[in-house]
Amino acid sequence: MNKWKKKYQDKLLAVEQLVAKFNSNDRCVSNGQVVEPVAILEALAERAKRGEIKGIQYHILAPQNQQPYLDPEMSDKIHLNALFVSKPTLDLVWDGYADYLPSFYGEIPRNVPIRGDIDVFMTRVSPMDKHGYFSFGAAADLSALYRQAKKVFLEVNSTMPRVHGSCFIHISEVDFLCESEAPISERYYGELTEEDIRIGEIVAAKIPDGACLQLGLGQMPNAIVKALMDKKNLGIHSEMFTDGMMELIEAGVVNNSRKRIHIGKSIASFTNGSRRLYDFLDDNPGIEFHPVNYTNDPVIIGRNDNMRSINSCIEVDLFGQVCSESIGPKNFSGVGGQVDFIRGAKRSKGGKSIIAMKSTAKNGTISKIKCVLTKGAVVTTSRNDVDNIVTEYGIARLRGRTCSERAKALISIAHPKFREQLEKEAHEINIISKSGK
Ligand code: COA
Repeated sequence: MNKWKKKYQDKLLAVEQLVAKFNSNDRCVSNGQVVEPVAILEALAERAKRGEIKGIQYHILAPQNQQPYLDPEMSDKIHLNALFVSKPTLDLVWDGYADYLPSFYGEIPRNVPIRGDIDVFMTRVSPMDKHGYFSFGAAADLSALYRQAKKVFLEVNSTMPRVHGSCFIHISEVDFLCESEAPISERYYGELTEEDIRIGEIVAAKIPDGACLQLGLGQMPNAIVKALMDKKNLGIHSEMFTDGMMELIEAGVVNNSRKRIHIGKSIASFTNGSRRLYDFLDDNPGIEFHPVNYTNDPVIIGRNDNMRSINSCIEVDLFGQVCSESIGPKNFSGVGGQVDFIRGAKRSKGGKSIIAMKSTAKNGTISKIKCVLTKGAVVTTSRNDVDNIVTEYGIARLRGRTCSERAKALISIAHPKFREQLEKEAHEINIISKSGK
């Protein structure tokens, strides 16, 4: 047995033994989404149910699984401070049994420690290699925080891809570990609609050969990828690595040859997609994951030329204020890296950012372009940062434009059935200037 295997055996515990190492009121952090340590969380919830532990504060981005601790009755025992709200946590946050911590994604590693010492860093990782390293796998996002934690616990999972980059932790830095077999979760999207395809084409027309891409969440990025198949020499510097990006690499559209940093490599911080994507990422030296304080730093993002940041939103008002994270006052998701990348694209030579959305929601009954935002809606991207908005009706270029010009540009890409009403409301509050200019 080599030295690292021996250390592995020394630190390996049954999950029930591992969770005995937690104390009440521990402040805990994990990497996000599909790497949530499900076996540790389940066993910890069991301890909490038995009344052995309480007051745990847990920080994680977008939990994917309906875990036992996500029960309102557990909230005083294991309290979630969500760094991004996901389907299993929507109602918990809305009903007041969990909290949301507002922060630009790239700044979370600075903002969580403001709350106090980190007692435990715990995350799921790939199996150990012969040198004693585990890959953080599908998410390296908050991994900058493990060195600040008093204890580091790993859950080793054979379904986790071994992703390259600043994405490794050595056995000597780990306190205890356990093994789990439950496969990491997968995510699939439905068929593209006609509107999705049209939006994809409009966005693709703004992406020159050699551009560097960031693609955000939701169905929209898939539509855009389909429209990019005849481009050349694209690069990837993103927070999320998607199935669509894999398709662009396989098609030879992305080769990262025109990047100024990480030439030849696709850079991201996490993934959430199909099993085929996880297999593609496994031991792939062309793709690197890095902590989010690096990938999402606007200064780093801006070092590549022709950056194209493409994200989506819930609604936008005629001033160009973009709400991407709430439906009225109800948290729906989070800011994520939307603003990090919009600001990064602004720094990039030739860079542009695009918010792409369908013009309507709820089967065409609601206009996503509003005169003013819905009461309680959160401003994700301010009117000072916004650049381009795209719907299936075209593109509204807002940067460098007055409120009047913005309102007119946005009304022109609203669904035709809402345009007259929007114009009337815009005149009522004088967003469109009286001179008509
Ligand atoms: N009013 C009311 N409801 C609306 C709405 C509006 N204006 N716009 C969308 N919705 C509803 C939809 O009907 C849908 O409801 P359902 O879940 O009941 O079907 C839900 O909101 C999600 O809308 P959808 O368009 O399907 O979302 P999406 O999966 O394409 O994601 C965002 C869009 C904006 C939620 C997502 O991109 C996000 O969270 N962005 C913020 C973070 C970010 O951009 N990070 C950067 C990159 S990772």
